Amino acid sequence: MRIVHMTDVHFLRPTWDRGVLSKRALGLVNLYVAGRKDYFDAASLVQQAVGDALQWQADLFVMTGDVTALSGASEFEEARESFSPLLESMPSVVIPGNHDVYTRGAHRSARMEKWFGAFMSGGVWSEESRSWEGGACSPGEPVPWPVRFTLGDTDVIATNPCRPSLRSTGRFSDGAIDRAEALVTESVARGQQVVYLLHYPPVWKNGSPYDRPGHCLEDVHDLVGSLERRPPSLVLHGHKHEAWRADLPLPGGASVPIFNCGTTSAISPMDDRTAGYFVYELEGGEITQARRRILRPGKTSFEDHPSTFGRA
Ligand SMILES: [Fe+2]
Ligand SMILES: [Fe+2]
Repeated sequence: MRIVHMTDVHFLRPTWDRGVLSKRALGLVNLYVAGRKDYFDAASLVQQAVGDALQWQADLFVMTGDVTALSGASEFEEARESFSPLLESMPSVVIPGNHDVYTRGAHRSARMEKWFGAFMSGGVWSEESRSWEGGACSPGEPVPWPVRFTLGDTDVIATNPCRPSLRSTGRFSDGAIDRAEALVTESVARGQQVVYLLHYPPVWKNGSPYDRPGHCLEDVHDLVGSLERRPPSLVLHGHKHEAWRADLPLPGGASVPIFNCGTTSAISPMDDRTAGYFVYELEGGEITQARRRILRPGKTSFEDHPSTFGRA
């Protein structure tokens, strides 16, 4: 199973619809103050990344959230259009990031689902219809997270602990970690390899729980406990704009590989922070290859990151 993974592209289309005190305006100010606007360039970098990624002829495309900067309709529209070549050429799964439910309005109206619902609702892949069938809800409706996607011998458990907040923290809804764990248990019992998706990092790159104040999953310890009890084959996430691979050790010497994709739309002099995406080979429940493609400042095309991320 070849998987292409992108994340945190943060399409930004400022709208000043209800005065400068709106939360969206505050988010915009934060983006400028943080200097992100200086180097985030989703419009051109996503197009390049998508073009580069098509060469791998992957089996599955996953996007782990923060598609937008301010959860605006025009941002979702532009993102949907930019990712179309991938979304329409292979089975795809998309989950929200905290910026995609940035305002209560976006959350309540299931704005992201309107644009990406066909890739968020779960289901079994049908080659005949080239779509996920029998999902947990109709595409476009609010998704009852977590949901499962089945593609051949691979199950994707898609979760969403993001909620509208002035801070960048997240928290699973009541029972959501247990429900995801039950889905993992069921999939493993059926002999499936299991990919677990969420926006937030479960662990830092040194393997300790990701507990950075104001930026973490508030119930990260519950999540890590669940991943230790019922380990999936692979965990993929974004949120922290720095690519890394961590391994969550399990009793008996095994471990769960956890990949942070970084961001696919910022230009940075650092290889782990510049625009990039991953291509994984997952076979028999094991990662046999993890290739990161990056775009360095001043370069016009993507190239391989020098690290093999733990595999030859
Ligand atoms: Fe982000
Ligand atoms: Fe985020």
